[in-house]
Amino acid sequence: MGTRRVTYQHTIEYEVLSTANLFHPQNWALLSAGRIEDARRFIVVDSNVERHYSAEIQNYFSHHHIEAKIVTFPSGEENKTVENYLSILRGLDSFPIHRRDEPIIAIGGGVLTDVVGFVASSYRRGVPHIKVPTTLMGYVDASIGIKTGINFNGSKNRLGAFHPPQKVLLDKAFLKTLPKRHILNGVCEIIKLAVIKDAELFGLLEEHGAQSVDAHFQDEQGGVILDRGISGMLEELQPNLFEEDLARKVDFGHTFSYGLETRHEAHLFHGEAVLLDILISTLIAQARNLLSEEETSRIFHLTDALGMELNASILDPGLLWESLTERTYHRNGLQRVPMPRGIGDCTFLNDINADEIESAVKTLEDRINVKNEII
Ligand SMILES: NC(=O)c1ccc[n+]([C@@H]2O[C@H](COP(=O)([O-])OP(=O)(O)OC[C@H]3O[C@@H](n4cnc5c(N)ncnc54)[C@H](O)[C@@H]3O)[C@@H](O)[C@H]2O)c1
Repeated sequence: MGTRRVTYQHTIEYEVLSTANLFHPQNWALLSAGRIEDARRFIVVDSNVERHYSAEIQNYFSHHHIEAKIVTFPSGEENKTVENYLSILRGLDSFPIHRRDEPIIAIGGGVLTDVVGFVASSYRRGVPHIKVPTTLMGYVDASIGIKTGINFNGSKNRLGAFHPPQKVLLDKAFLKTLPKRHILNGVCEIIKLAVIKDAELFGLLEEHGAQSVDAHFQDEQGGVILDRGISGMLEELQPNLFEEDLARKVDFGHTFSYGLETRHEAHLFHGEAVLLDILISTLIAQARNLLSEEETSRIFHLTDALGMELNASILDPGLLWESLTERTYHRNGLQRVPMPRGIGDCTFLNDINADEIESAVKTLEDRINVKNEII
C-alpha cells in the first residue's frame, strides 16, 4: 500500500457578543445558538455568581420552557482539578443533552470557563458550549479565546484542549459584584496588552484607569478600555488560535509568572503573578535599553496609580529561572520571551540569563520596599 494523505480544513468561527441584561426574558442571547423547541440546557454557574443571580437564571429558562439543569461550581484556582472536571462530566452524563444543538452554558470566571470548556471539548469527542465571563479576567482574556484546561500533576493547565466556543456573551454588569482584588487581577491582563501592543490603551489606563477600577468598569471610559482590550486581544489571538506560532505577544507577563503562581497558588492570583512578571520583564528590558527610564517609570507609576499591591517577599530568582526553563520547554526549546520595545511595541528575547533575572529581582524588591516604607 502506498502513502495516502488525508487533509481536511475546518473553519473556526464564533461571535463575541456584547449584551446587557443577559437574564432578562426578552434577551435571546443565551438561546441564540441551538434548538429552543423541546430543548434542554446543561448550565454550570460559579457559586458566587449563583448567589446573586440564582432566581433570574432559573426564571429565564423556565420562562422559555427550557428544561435546565443548573450545576454550581466553586471557583478559585484550587478547584481547577481533575476531580471537579469529572464531577461536571458525571452531572452532564446523567442529563444527556443533544450532541449538536443543546450547547453547554458556562457562566463564571476563568477557572469555570476553562474547566467547562474542557468538559465540552472531551464529552462525546466535543459538544458546543457558550461562555459567559463574570470576572474581568474572563471578560478580557480567559473566555474570548479557545483554550480550555485544568491543572494536573502539580502543573497549571497541564490537561486541556483547544476548543472554540459557539458564542461568548459579554455583559459587563457582572463586574459590579466582583471584589476589587479580582477587578485589579483582570486589569493586569489589560496592562499587559497595553505595554506590549497598544500605547493608546496605555494612555487610557493612565488617564482613566483608577476611576474605572473604582467604578468596576461601569463608567463610560471603563467601557472604552474594555472594548479596546478585547479588540487587541482578539487581534492577537485570531491569526494564531492554535498557537502554531509560539512567539506570542500575549505571553508577555506569562514566563516568570508560571512558577510564581504554581508555588503560591493559595494566595496569588493569576493576574497578580502576571503583574510581577511584567515588572521583572520591564526592568530586564530597561537594562537592555529596550525601554527608557521614563517609559519604565510610567509603567511603575501606572501600577501605583491603579492601587496594585505587590509582594516582594515571594520574588525568588531561582524560581523565576526555573519558570523560564519550563516555559522554554513549553515553547519548544526557545525562550521566546516577549519584551516591550518602547511602550506599545514588542520584541522577543531568547537569551535571558540568570544574572539578569537576579538583578531585576533585586531592583524590584528595592522599589517595592521603598514604596511600602513611604506608605
Ligand atoms: N483560557 C485562557 O485563555 C485563559 C486566559 C487567562 C486566564 N485563564 C485562567 O483563568 C483563571 C483565573 O480566572 P479568574 O481570575 O476569573 O478566577 P475565578 O474563576 O476563580 O474567579 C475569581 C473569583 O471571583 C468569583 N466570581 C466570579 N464572578 C463573580 C461575580 N460576578 N461577582 C462576584 N464574584 C464572582 C469566583 O467565585 C471566584 O471566587 C486561571 O485559572 C487562568 O489559568 C485562562
